[in-house]
Amino acid sequence: MSLQVALLLLLRCLASAWAQYELCKSLVSTDEGSVWEHYACQPKPAAMKDYMRIKVDPPGITCGNPPERFCTLENPYLCSDECDASNPDLAHPPQLMQDRERNGLITYWQTVTWRRHPEPLLANITLSWNKTLELTDDLHITFEYGRPTIMVLDKSMDHGRTWQPYQYYADDCLDNFNMQPKRVRDLSPTNITRVICTEQYSRWVGSKNEKNVKFEVRARFAVFAGARLQQMDNLYTRMESMKGLRDFFTFTNLRLRLLRPALGGTYVQRDNLLKYFYAISNIDVPARCKCNLHASQCLLVDGNLQCQCEHNTTGQDCQRCKKGFKAKSWKAGSFLPTPNGTPNTCAIAGSPSGSIVEDETVSGIRDENPHGRLDHAEPDTQGQRRTPGAPREERTLPMM
Ligand SMILES: *[C@@H]1O[C@H](CO)[C@@H](O)[C@H](O)[C@H]1NC(C)=O
Ligand SMILES: *[C@@H]1O[C@H](CO)[C@@H](O)[C@H](O)[C@H]1NC(C)=O
Ligand SMILES: *[C@@H]1O[C@H](CO)[C@@H](O)[C@H](O)[C@H]1NC(C)=O
Ligand SMILES: *[C@@H]1O[C@H](CO)[C@@H](O)[C@H](O)[C@H]1NC(C)=O
Repeated sequence: MSLQVALLLLLRCLASAWAQYELCKSLVSTDEGSVWEHYACQPKPAAMKDYMRIKVDPPGITCGNPPERFCTLENPYLCSDECDASNPDLAHPPQLMQDRERNGLITYWQTVTWRRHPEPLLANITLSWNKTLELTDDLHITFEYGRPTIMVLDKSMDHGRTWQPYQYYADDCLDNFNMQPKRVRDLSPTNITRVICTEQYSRWVGSKNEKNVKFEVRARFAVFAGARLQQMDNLYTRMESMKGLRDFFTFTNLRLRLLRPALGGTYVQRDNLLKYFYAISNIDVPARCKCNLHASQCLLVDGNLQCQCEHNTTGQDCQRCKKGFKAKSWKAGSFLPTPNGTPNTCAIAGSPSGSIVEDETVSGIRDENPHGRLDHAEPDTQGQRRTPGAPREERTLPMM
């Protein structure tokens, strides 16, 4: 008996962690008939690399024009590899950072080699979405042939007008950025949004051993939600109360500034500069559309991501009230009170709309009634359009 209860509790716990804020509304039966109840809602996380636009700078940084030989750090005297932009089998264009690796064949973008040393070998990769997004898990960048020894990750929240550093990466933080090396685990709840320099992903360990450079989102969430992200409510509560926390994970563009390639754990050897270059096979950006808690779906419309706004809101991020629904000023939905939040709907002048959802007894019914008196009509999941929230290769945060 008690085992059953425990099992039920566990199931309920898991269900609420998975389903939280997924539903914008549901039809609830009352004595007066069916009424819509509204909740704070957000789209599911998706693999945003499928929707990003990539630009590399400076012009001519991609290898192969003219064709060029290159060596590797592990075997600098075996220089039989060639990059040739005019030959599809030997070309390494930027879109290979974004493709899916099929049949175990790894494809990658590659730069020219460092033949102009001592001039630095610099490259920028700018990723744009034309949509405000929120990171939901770690950003991964996979480098073939070694990770850069100096690199900066920048972000923009205003479609590339202004940029700010997001994280510094170097084999020597003090030397290169005059910053103390830190790890995310050195951060406490009060300084979790601090921009740090880390040496964790820049030291030479062999190009095959460790290919990934990460921007840690999960470890930052874990500071509030626990190591296995079981107390997501705590995180959502902090998102509402801690200034700058939500914004820390928010972006419209990202930029990788590659400042010095892998060196193989030693100094630059001028007699063989063909072994120094950058090569990236994959960039993973697990994120969700920011819809201000007013949408549970985000769809590709004419090539741009667009929140499917509910609660009488509109705009790409549901950032304003629909025309004629401005009885009160626009407000983002709130994660609080957990588990359903507050939708903060926009209402037509003279209507009582919005207030009924905050009614404790109504939301109480939704939680406690085990006999399915409520009809979970899910208007949000209808339709056959391809959506970034649909079950493709997505990662849903609280599930791991
Ligand atoms: C990379 O972008 C920065 C601005 O974020 C700019 O100052 C720099 O010149 C760019 N570097 C290259 C190689 O284009
Ligand atoms: C960005 O998205 C908005 C809204 O979907 C659209 O109106 C605009 O044309 C897009 N801009 C570009 C450069 O695609
Ligand atoms: C963050 O705060 C903790 C304790 O409050 C401190 O030990 C740590 O050095 C701080 N980290 C940074 C990067 O300032
Ligand atoms: C939109 O506004 C109308 C009129 O105020 C209201 O009846 C309706 O419930 C609102 N819809 C949502 C989703 O809040």
